[in-house]
Amino acid sequence: MFFTKLSWPFLTRFLLFLFFALLTVLVFPSSSAMTVEEIETKLKNKDNHLLSTENKFKAFMETYGKNYTTREEYLRRLGIFADNIIMALKHQMLDPSAIHGVTQFSDLTPEEFQKVYTRAHGLLVPSSNEFPAAPPLKAESLPESFDWREKGAVTEVKTQGMCGACWAFSTIGVLEGAHFLATGKLLNLSEQQLVDCDNKCDINDKKACDNGCYGGLMTNAYNYLMEAGGVEEEATYPYTANRGECKFDKNKIAVRVSNFSNIPADEDQIAAYLVKQGPLAVGVNAIYMQTYIGGVSCPYICGKKLNHGVLLVGYGTKGFSILRLGNKPYWIIKNSWGKHWGEHGYFKICRGYNMCGVNTLVSTAMVSH
Ligand SMILES: *[C@@H]1O[C@H](CO)[C@@H](O)[C@H](O)[C@H]1NC(C)=O
Ligand SMILES: *[C@@H]1O[C@H](CO)[C@@H](O)[C@H](O)[C@H]1NC(C)=O
Ligand SMILES: *[C@@H]1O[C@H](CO)[C@@H](O)[C@H](O)[C@H]1NC(C)=O
Repeated sequence: MFFTKLSWPFLTRFLLFLFFALLTVLVFPSSSAMTVEEIETKLKNKDNHLLSTENKFKAFMETYGKNYTTREEYLRRLGIFADNIIMALKHQMLDPSAIHGVTQFSDLTPEEFQKVYTRAHGLLVPSSNEFPAAPPLKAESLPESFDWREKGAVTEVKTQGMCGACWAFSTIGVLEGAHFLATGKLLNLSEQQLVDCDNKCDINDKKACDNGCYGGLMTNAYNYLMEAGGVEEEATYPYTANRGECKFDKNKIAVRVSNFSNIPADEDQIAAYLVKQGPLAVGVNAIYMQTYIGGVSCPYICGKKLNHGVLLVGYGTKGFSILRLGNKPYWIIKNSWGKHWGEHGYFKICRGYNMCGVNTLVSTAMVSH
């Protein structure tokens, strides 16, 4: 019984993973975690390796407009940066069809990155999933590739900033798309309204409540919006990256939410719903995203614990990768970390493997105006 379930692609992937994991452990030391004093001493002694890292670090500071107030903080961040270069190399080995390297997050420890951008519980996952489930669609005659951006259903990439409100961006992306499909008009809608006003909890898990910059859940947000009446435009309720007092004004509602549903955890169904209903909210494990620069992310192993909410906008069949001359079917996903992250704010993740949990928390909403 168990063996019949072990398909060859799975075994190959597993063996490749073992190989790369072993290689990674052999090639890279665990993080150096140098103290500030050690770094200062090494720099004084003109340690070649550290000097070359420092050059990269200075280029990074310039590119991302970083500045540190004290020498000590500078050295501390240099040490973290050095560790992150090693982490990027590890990610590169475990995820060879993507490109990993220096990103805007390269001076953050993994813990800081989790806190700020995904908030560990950036995405609250309910213990049980008893939302209205969507009926299955026919998935046979779908186009080979599909991209809602080409059809004008997706707003520009936004920036959540130092606020774990990924769930609000994911929800709003769904509504912007659904509104475009219903009316042909693209509007920027207000994430801030959700950050300030939405305290909804999951029906089955009273501890999973939307909590501004400290995390939330897309399905809670649809429930809040159905009760509140709707959502304002970004222009009347702009984003601040902080939770403030609720300033929602019913007279300024731009889009109303009439219903929502969960999509079955099946990547053919997800594709069918994407094409029929517009961009979909999805949850992913964001571990590889700290170092992601481009390509199709398809790591040999990735946790399925969801900690980040994003927007699925399309898919393709032939994700070309320089590092691995193979073609991989992929999803196109809009993130909320600005246009300088990833591929102009987007990333690609391979399709058909429930990669990083991508098929487990997928939802869509119906709107009226
Ligand atoms: C960094 O900050 C220091 C002190 O606040 C300032 O003197 C310096 O010009 C800044 N450098 C850059 C590149 O902004
Ligand atoms: C909402 O959607 C669910 C699942 O798609 C469906 O069962 C339900 O009837 C819908 N409710 C309304 C009021 O349309
Ligand atoms: C949404 O807002 C961005 C940033 O302000 C702007 O560049 C873009 O044109 C807006 N899009 C729409 C459809 O209004």
